[in-house]
Amino acid sequence: MTGVTAFVEGWDFVQTLGEGAYGEVKLAVSSTTDEAIAVKIINLKRIPQAEENVKKEVCVHKMLNHKNIIKFYGFRKDDNIQYIFLEYAIGGELFDRIEPDVGMPEADASRFFKQLISGVEYLHSRGVTHRDLKPENLLLDDFDNLKISDFGLATVFRYQGRERLMEKCCGTVPYVAPEVISRKPYPAEPADIWSCGIILVALLAGELPWDEPTYGCEEYCNWKDCKITLSPWKKINTLALSLLRKVFVENVKKRRTIDEIKNHPWYNKNFNKNKGSMNNCSSSPSDSPCGTGPFKRICSGINVSPTKLKSDSDMLQICSSQPELPPVPLKGQSSNEVDLGPVISFSQPLHPDHMLLSSQVQGTPGSCSQNPMQRLGRRMTRFFVKTDKNETLTEMDRIFESLGYAFRRSSPGITTVNLKDRRGMPLVFKACLLEMGENLLLDFRLSKGDGLQFKRQFMEVKNLMKKISCKVPQFHSVFPSNKPS
Ligand code: ADE
Repeated sequence: MTGVTAFVEGWDFVQTLGEGAYGEVKLAVSSTTDEAIAVKIINLKRIPQAEENVKKEVCVHKMLNHKNIIKFYGFRKDDNIQYIFLEYAIGGELFDRIEPDVGMPEADASRFFKQLISGVEYLHSRGVTHRDLKPENLLLDDFDNLKISDFGLATVFRYQGRERLMEKCCGTVPYVAPEVISRKPYPAEPADIWSCGIILVALLAGELPWDEPTYGCEEYCNWKDCKITLSPWKKINTLALSLLRKVFVENVKKRRTIDEIKNHPWYNKNFNKNKGSMNNCSSSPSDSPCGTGPFKRICSGINVSPTKLKSDSDMLQICSSQPELPPVPLKGQSSNEVDLGPVISFSQPLHPDHMLLSSQVQGTPGSCSQNPMQRLGRRMTRFFVKTDKNETLTEMDRIFESLGYAFRRSSPGITTVNLKDRRGMPLVFKACLLEMGENLLLDFRLSKGDGLQFKRQFMEVKNLMKKISCKVPQFHSVFPSNKPS
């Protein structure tokens, strides 16, 4: 089944927000209240070992309540499909704000880094370690407030005052600390702090410093040898470098703690607000009222609480202290018919007047004047084309072939590209041709691999497709249709 899927009376899946090894995250919108939530969908039949992991993810995530952490609303299971209901971060991934090989203005990097540290400090205070901090797991709300997401690898390292060491080697290699790959037990907090340091490099330089923190890796050796005239270090100023020097310390006892990072001069440097690319609303408090457009986000404790969700639709198990709700049949289908294929189209416009789409007018980060529908289109890895479906696909095939890509077309609108990145790691992404009323949008989505590498590939493809791409849709009134083209 393609197109809009209702998973419970009154709630529609309207768009795929992301995908990963576990399954997908979709945007669900209430047809009665316009509230929007993100739903992580895990097919337990496909990945049987996921059941235990999901239980743990739920157990950890439900303990958390902080402005820089995606809110957990609840979960439910229908047959072999596990749903986790989450706060919808309308601003997308922080990763989309990083220009490959450039980064972002230092003032913006400072603001995001402070919010990241605030979220991680809270996690650690609750005895939780995330273990997979990277820009792809950092989302933004409509005031560009950072929200740590994806607690799939998170675990409790301190319980009732007793701390335990970590043993599992997990995370994403370029972001992990040396001790994580040393195969010896290691303390949890310094490993997360190392990942925050790598994220800071990505924010300031638009590239990762090394493939892995081992002496077999030339870039890591160069850093150890203080060769800071090389990239990425030459793009980073001395003050920020001095902070990074203190974070990338192999000895976990000597690595800077969060308190020490918060006392560092770079952390406390007052960046001129005008230097950042974000407009005024970026300084809005993260607990500002929820969005005003057609989709109201559900913000716990504020306008609409998760409890309201429960009483409205009875769809969630809000907290696992309550018994799990019996499966609710899906609208017009049996629950086992839930479609896990990519749903890349919108529901019928909820408020047509809000659907004028200006996503190709590159959104100023933090431009909260945009309505949420427009902001759905703010992902940087997409562009409109002026050619028709067939011409677009023919041109795309030609370009993919010229780049030596291995690719296959699973359905007319979806092309999956399988590559190896420069580290020899798999890089898989999808190019989806979306019909948006009279316009055609080519949307690129990372399925597997390094986000920055994906973005470099996207830029290359976009550049080669210049002849057929256009900055703004040809027509102004855009009512997305229900199907991939
Ligand atoms: N992608 C993955 N999780 C998301 C969420 N909670 N909100 C928006 N986009 C997401």
